[in-house]
Amino acid sequence: MDAFESVVTKLDIREFSVNEVPSEIKSKVLEAARLTGTGLNTQHWRFILVENKGNLKKLAEDSTSGKWVANCNFAIIILTNPKYHFHLIDAGRVLQSMQLAAWNYGVGSGIFTGIEEDKFREDFGIPEEFYVSAIIGFGYPIKKLTGKRKDRLPLNVLVHNEKYGISS
Ligand SMILES: Cc1cc2nc3c(=O)[nH]c(=O)nc-3n(C[C@H](O)[C@H](O)[C@H](O)COP(=O)(O)O)c2cc1C
Repeated sequence: MDAFESVVTKLDIREFSVNEVPSEIKSKVLEAARLTGTGLNTQHWRFILVENKGNLKKLAEDSTSGKWVANCNFAIIILTNPKYHFHLIDAGRVLQSMQLAAWNYGVGSGIFTGIEEDKFREDFGIPEEFYVSAIIGFGYPIKKLTGKRKDRLPLNVLVHNEKYGISS
């Protein structure tokens, strides 16, 4: 799948099949994270791979906006260091890298950010200095995604020419 096609067809999914994602694909997803650039190449982020069903359930219990994660095949917690003012840009880049790398192999994913902070930190051993930027749940989609239209604004609303206020 070329990069444009991957962006066009990828949707966030919250329903996953019970089929296992092969470990080679998980490794590719993590390698995509590793190779993504950070501001000043600080590489301040750390990732927690969660595969154990009991821990996936715990993730769901500790979530306020991603209960669906209980049924994914594996999840990755993205930790970033808020001492870098650009840390959330880095988080966004790396989560998109991982989602697109997975989607290239037909593995879907969804993200969530809402957590019960204290419980989450305790359950997953998150050190003080890290911010829990996002959690991605991965797995094969239960339904075929092709054909579903994305609900997005048109370019003439989003894009301005040369100066704000001049529509394309
Ligand atoms: C910064 C950010 C935070 C998000 N937080 C959540 C969340 O807490 N729970 C959830 O189910 N989806 C979350 N999403 C997924 C969005 O709802 C999803 O990207 C959006 O609806 C577009 O989905 P689509 O690409 O399938 O059309 C989040 C997405 C982003 C980019």
